[in-house]
Amino acid sequence: MSTKYGLENLKDAVVVVTGSGRGIGRGIAECFAAQGSKVVITDIDHATAAATAAEIAQMGVETLAMDCDVSKYEQAEALMNKAVEKWGKIDVLVNNAGITQDGLFLRMKPEQWQKVIDINLTGTYNCAHAVVNHMRKARKGAIINISSIAAGGNPGQANYSASKAGVLGFTYALGKELAPMGIRVNAVAPGFIKTPMTDKIPDKIREQMIAAIPLKRAGEPDDIAKVILFLASDLAGYVTAQCVHVNGGLAGL
Ligand SMILES: NC(=O)c1ccc[n+]([C@@H]2O[C@H](COP(=O)([O-])OP(=O)(O)OC[C@H]3O[C@@H](n4cnc5c(N)ncnc54)[C@H](O)[C@@H]3O)[C@@H](O)[C@H]2O)c1
Repeated sequence: MSTKYGLENLKDAVVVVTGSGRGIGRGIAECFAAQGSKVVITDIDHATAAATAAEIAQMGVETLAMDCDVSKYEQAEALMNKAVEKWGKIDVLVNNAGITQDGLFLRMKPEQWQKVIDINLTGTYNCAHAVVNHMRKARKGAIINISSIAAGGNPGQANYSASKAGVLGFTYALGKELAPMGIRVNAVAPGFIKTPMTDKIPDKIREQMIAAIPLKRAGEPDDIAKVILFLASDLAGYVTAQCVHVNGGLAGL
């Protein structure tokens, strides 16, 4: 039995976190930086990506800020190429970028459906596809996709639920397909996490949602980040094609 367990492999690892200008993505990037990883802060929002990368660099790690709309394949490819050009490899990809455009199905417009699928699901494909060629050469890597408890089906979120359920199927298929190449692929399904995405929920509904959580609090980005660290580390060396639910005990998936 090996006596070396831990997060050691994350020191100097190159980690790309999409949508990391704010919210859960930023929390994930900070957690990797705290382990000494080199982090690529990338977002569709140029200003938050640049500011977050500069702040995380204050932790004493190397960062790279890059604009990337994950729904555009060429931008995903340029992102991965730039990281490899700078540091020679990518060890971890966290597919975090995501949006909601909620509405009752009868009123849901085709563009409202398409935009959520394009970013949440196709964006996950784009970034994974663009990174795999680099990881394949190294014969190692970890990809972690952010799904949601909504994958189990939320009224008013047919588009979002479909995209996040798609992320799960994608994760299970890719985990099995890439395992022989030494690349592990897992998902995390957060419950209710306090971020700008959930800040827009009306107070009364938010209170009801929190009251229904067995642990009686909203999650923090850090609660998700810690599980992602585990999945990216050697501690999870025998874990692939799985989803970890991080939701304070909520049932739903
Ligand atoms: N907050 C929650 O309760 C919760 C629960 C379950 C799942 N999630 C998922 O976690 C992830 C992060 O959510 P969050 O709450 O931090 O959201 P957020 O809105 O606070 O942050 C999302 C980030 O993604 C960026 N982004 C949006 N479109 C993009 C695109 N096309 N390309 C690149 N970046 C883009 C945004 O600019 C933003 O910085 C999302 O995938 C979301 O679906 C969140």
